[in-house]
Amino acid sequence: MIKKLEDHISYIKNFDSKDKDEIESMKIKFLGRKGLINELFSDFKNVPADQKKEYGQKINDLKNLASDKYENLKLGIKKSRKSITEDYTKPGFPISSGSLHPITLIKNRIVDIFSKVGFELSEGPEIEDDWHNFTALNLPQDHPARDMQDTFFIQQDPDILLRTHTSSVQVRYLEDNPPPLKIISPGRVYRNEAISSRSHCMFHQIEGIYVDEKVSFADLKQMILYFTKSMFGKSKLRFRPSFFPFTEPSAEVDIYWGLETETDYRITKGTGWLEIMGCGMVDPNVLQNCNIDSEKYTGYAFGLGIERIAMLIYQIPDIRLFFENDIRFLNQFK
Ligand code: DAH
Repeated sequence: MIKKLEDHISYIKNFDSKDKDEIESMKIKFLGRKGLINELFSDFKNVPADQKKEYGQKINDLKNLASDKYENLKLGIKKSRKSITEDYTKPGFPISSGSLHPITLIKNRIVDIFSKVGFELSEGPEIEDDWHNFTALNLPQDHPARDMQDTFFIQQDPDILLRTHTSSVQVRYLEDNPPPLKIISPGRVYRNEAISSRSHCMFHQIEGIYVDEKVSFADLKQMILYFTKSMFGKSKLRFRPSFFPFTEPSAEVDIYWGLETETDYRITKGTGWLEIMGCGMVDPNVLQNCNIDSEKYTGYAFGLGIERIAMLIYQIPDIRLFFENDIRFLNQFK
């Protein structure tokens, strides 16, 4: 009797088929209500007592083997059917990709333009101390020009603040690196200002500085001309005298934008001119504060707001759009 069982077990083990009917009849033959396995179970009472244990185990093995075999063969049919109907040459589902933020796009363009003429990237911390943001930049305590930028101070320690401009990176770099040096520093800056269509309490700036022997205002003008040509394709410039504590002399740069469209009239207030940046010759006091010999070295510096440039290039009317993360806005820069 055990021999008969073992024959069935090896039959099942060797059984293979891809034919649905054949598989079903195997199932009925072994596992059906009147099938072999039930028949073997009812034979159990006739098995000699000393073989009952082995017999019982073997029937169970057979039963498990048969139902596993049945399930596996059925699964195999399903799979192979699927592989026939699936067309792997069909194009895939499109994956929608993200895009760079317009501020990042403009920042990259500006950094590229200056990298081409030898400016190196250098970044500094957004949480700054008084020395790097103000004092070393020729803005001692109680200097009235500190009010030009409303500052966020850390309440527990008025020496610590959120930097109000990227000019702080100048100081950090000058302190650590002997001239000649030529760096560009993009980053976030913070000012305690009311939020409106034109101002925001966090925005982005790019600072540039070049210090070497015999650097002159003519070099500065030439560099800015190169920048406006590369960035806007425009080369009609105007340098207006201005004041910054860290530069002497200081200037604000306007470019002639033109008066061709209604938008041109609106953004230039009917003048055709647009202010795009501040600049000047690095004040000798700043060099000295950073232990650089101001008799031997001179330099120029400039600073510009990235949002402002992005608003001009993409004709964006409201600065708040940059910070709302509205997908309908961001999708336009793919
Ligand atoms: N730090 C100035 C600001 O935030 C911008 C600036 C003006 C930077 C003139 C300069 C500069 O380096 O020379 O308004």
